[in-house]
Amino acid sequence: MKVVRSSRELRAVLDVARSAGHLIGFVPTMGALHDGHVSLLDAARSKSDVVVLSVFVNPLQFGPSEDLAAYPRDESRDIDIAERAAVDVLFLPSVEEMYPEGRATLVSVGALGDLLEGADRPGHFVGVATVVAKLFNMVGPHVAFFGQKDAQQVAVIKQMVRDLSFPIELSIEPTVRESDGLALSSRNRYLSIGERQQATSVFRALELGARTLTEEDPEAAEKKMWELLIAEGLEPSYTRVVDPDSFGPPHPVGPVLLVVAARVGTTRLIDNMVVSRVGDDANRSTIPEEA
Ligand code: PAJ
Repeated sequence: MKVVRSSRELRAVLDVARSAGHLIGFVPTMGALHDGHVSLLDAARSKSDVVVLSVFVNPLQFGPSEDLAAYPRDESRDIDIAERAAVDVLFLPSVEEMYPEGRATLVSVGALGDLLEGADRPGHFVGVATVVAKLFNMVGPHVAFFGQKDAQQVAVIKQMVRDLSFPIELSIEPTVRESDGLALSSRNRYLSIGERQQATSVFRALELGARTLTEEDPEAAEKKMWELLIAEGLEPSYTRVVDPDSFGPPHPVGPVLLVVAARVGTTRLIDNMVVSRVGDDANRSTIPEEA
């Protein structure tokens, strides 16, 4: 595995791979790697010749009152995990490398960036889109891998790739969960033992929402998810049933996305579930797309 810290070095390494005709797969992360990240690396391994992983805690996507300083960083552990996942090139840029003095250009993401996560975290998706656009330009991958865990991020990146004509295929991978349903997240390590137990209610709320949709309308599902989280002592920010692409109101038929954000103590957790609805309103069943 080659560890590189400058975009110059990165380009030199990847130019060789590109001129040999190798397919480059790219997994951007903020590190504190876990099995969710590793599943993206495994997908990249199976779908490309050269696997590039970036680890960069992006200051631009954290709000002033968020956990930038406390965000978990463990470079040597990340290097070990990357080695074991057969990463070919690990890109570890510094803040100065990514954001040299005098930068002014940002990627604006439109209305999608102001909803839900964007409403709770103003500027977050502009920060995400800007760093991902920069990383795409630095790496020049053929395929980039993202987790469905961050569903709104996926929608923002798809929109950006279309709008800015990035010649990059996106591969979206399923959410990796603990056996009790909790989605793996770098932020789970902030949870105390009691909070870790409470956190399972996020997935249970999504399951309840999916079940409710078989019989009742989206508003009823949203209400039941909200009430379950409150009953379990969480502080929900939103529990919504939305269109999976626009994040606006769901269409009467076709798949919908259940999205939840809630605080457990001071830790903010997000999760989602895609639900396919079959048939018309009179004869409707729901199929959660992941167990
Ligand atoms: P980070 O939170 O480190 O996540 C990196 C990638 O791993 C994202 O695509 C995310 O959706 C995916 N991921 C996280 N938890 C997962 C899980 N349990 N199962 C499957 N995939 C999971 O998302 C970011 O970093 C940043 O916003 C980034 C895109 C790197 C831009 O800074």
